This record gives sequence, structure tokens and C-alpha cells, in this order.
Amino acid sequence: MIYDFPHYLSAKKTVDDRALNAHVWQMLRQNLPAQPNILEVGAGIGTMAERLAEQEFISTATYTAIDNQPENIATALQRLAPLPKTIRLSLEAVDLFDFIQQKQGQRQWDVLIAHAFLDLMDVPATLPQLFSLLKPGGLFYFSINFDGVTTLEPTIDPALDAQIEQLYHQTMDERLTDGQPSGDSRSGRHMFSHLRQLGATILAAGSSDWVVFAQPNEHPAEGYPADEKYFLQFIVETMHRALATHPALDQAQFARWIAQRQAQIDAGELVYIAHQLDFLGRWPGEQ
Ligand SMILES: C[S@@+](CC[C@H](N)C(=O)[O-])C[C@H]1O[C@@H](n2cnc3c(N)ncnc32)[C@H](O)[C@@H]1O
Repeated sequence: MIYDFPHYLSAKKTVDDRALNAHVWQMLRQNLPAQPNILEVGAGIGTMAERLAEQEFISTATYTAIDNQPENIATALQRLAPLPKTIRLSLEAVDLFDFIQQKQGQRQWDVLIAHAFLDLMDVPATLPQLFSLLKPGGLFYFSINFDGVTTLEPTIDPALDAQIEQLYHQTMDERLTDGQPSGDSRSGRHMFSHLRQLGATILAAGSSDWVVFAQPNEHPAEGYPADEKYFLQFIVETMHRALATHPALDQAQFARWIAQRQAQIDAGELVYIAHQLDFLGRWPGEQ
């Protein structure tokens, strides 16, 4: 397979559409100010802005989306071109921490969005910096925060499956970016205490698990929906890359395991579940 990150983010959209917690999503709609000034960090190829426009959460808005990968922002520019001109877009390829430094002291945003992003960060260190961008009383929507469960069915070997899940999560916990810790395999559940410690109010929270499965071959809509076969191939390849040199694994056995998982995808047999949590909240102060 070709390991193409923008393609993965595109394939992920329908998986996220099903996963997003419906209660938290509707609470976002109810609490969005009219004509909001929105900032999305780690925005990838812009699927969240697209979703908010498609579902008419926003019609007149200013939407700033940043991501540190220029190829993601280039894809977002093309993808979001059809959005109505009443949504004023500003897309920038910039590292989050450079952006925060540029904007220091300017609390200009009504709404802050981080979707499938904060679990890649050192959350307690990042949240105060992120909140420094939000107006008093501003809204935040933090969705798809991974929370410690990766399930692949059917089982290949119970002991090996469990070991691979545990080691894969450990790579998230031990991940370093620029020498700094960045990631938490239980970032979803830990978000409650991180937010409360900063004095943020949680308006809604709920699970947003990815659940991906195929219809059997005889079914009219056979196979995985939309581009979700690629999504699964990418996930399995990500696990492969994360553990490809891990000393605790017999690498020949692991390579066979990966090949079996890819074969299960080809046969439409693989079921993938990742447990995640969504949050909507408010930063203290009057709007
Ligand atoms: C898992 S992806 C999610 C992207 C998008 N929110 C989505 O769900 O389609 C995480 C994104 O964060 C971006 N990213 C990671 N670290 C970043 C940083 N320090 N500053 C800005 N973007 C970052 C990556 O380039 C990637 O596009």
C-alpha cells in the first residue's frame, strides 16, 4: 500500500462522521455563537470545517485552520474551495507552538477546535497555551481523544494480540517530539482532570469510538463503506511501523501477524474498534 497521510485523513472522514458523539455534537451546535471566529489546530486536510459547513453549523464565520504539514494545508485549500464565501477561511501551514507565540496575548477566538489532535500532544503543557488564544467565555470542542482501547477482530492469537495492543499503546505513552513527551494512550479519560485543573467548564462529554466493519460479499453494499478499506490498511501499517523494531516482539512472528491483518482486510473480515472521547466546554469569563 502507498502510505499517504492526506489520503488517510480523507478516508477517515466517514469513520469520524459515525463516531462523533451525537450529544456533544448537538451541544456544540446549540452553543455556537452567531458568526463565530473559529480556530482549528491540527486541522489536517480540513474535514472538520467541511463537516461544519455541510451540516450548516456555520454559514457566516471566520475559520482559521492550522497544521504543521504543508501537504495537508495544500489539500485543505483545494478541498475547501467550494465552501460559501460567507465562511472566510484562513489556512496556514505552521507549527502550533510558533502560531501561539505569534498570537501571544491576542485572545481573538470565540471557538477553539482540536479534532483527533490532542492525544498527540503533552496535554497538560499544551492546554494552557491553547486557552491563551480563546476569548473569555469562549467555547472549545476537543473531539476524538484516544482512550486506551484498540480492538482488532477476529482474534489471531489471544496472547500475541494483547501484547501488540499493549506495546502499541506504550509507543503513544513514550512518544517524544523534539525531545518532549507528546502523547497519552489514555488522553480521553485524563482530559476531565486536565480541564478541571485549569478551571474550564465541561458542558458535555461522551464516547466517540471508531467502529469499522464490512458488509458480507453477498450483501448489496458489499465490503467496507466509502474509502474505509484504505483507512484500515493505513491503521494496520501504522501499527507495523510503530513496532517494527521493538525488541520485545519476535519480528518474524509480528510480520506474519501484520500480513494476516492485511489479509483479513482484503477478505472484509477485519473489525476495528478504537475507544475515544469527545468534549465540549467553556473557558471562564463573560462572552
Ligand atoms: C491525526 S491528524 C488529525 C488531522 C485532522 N484534525 C483530522 O482529523 O482529519 C493530526 C494532525 O496534527 C498535525 N500536527 C501534529 N503536530 C502538530 C503541531 N505541533 N502543530 C500543528 N499541527 C500539528 C498533523 O500534521 C496532523 O495533520
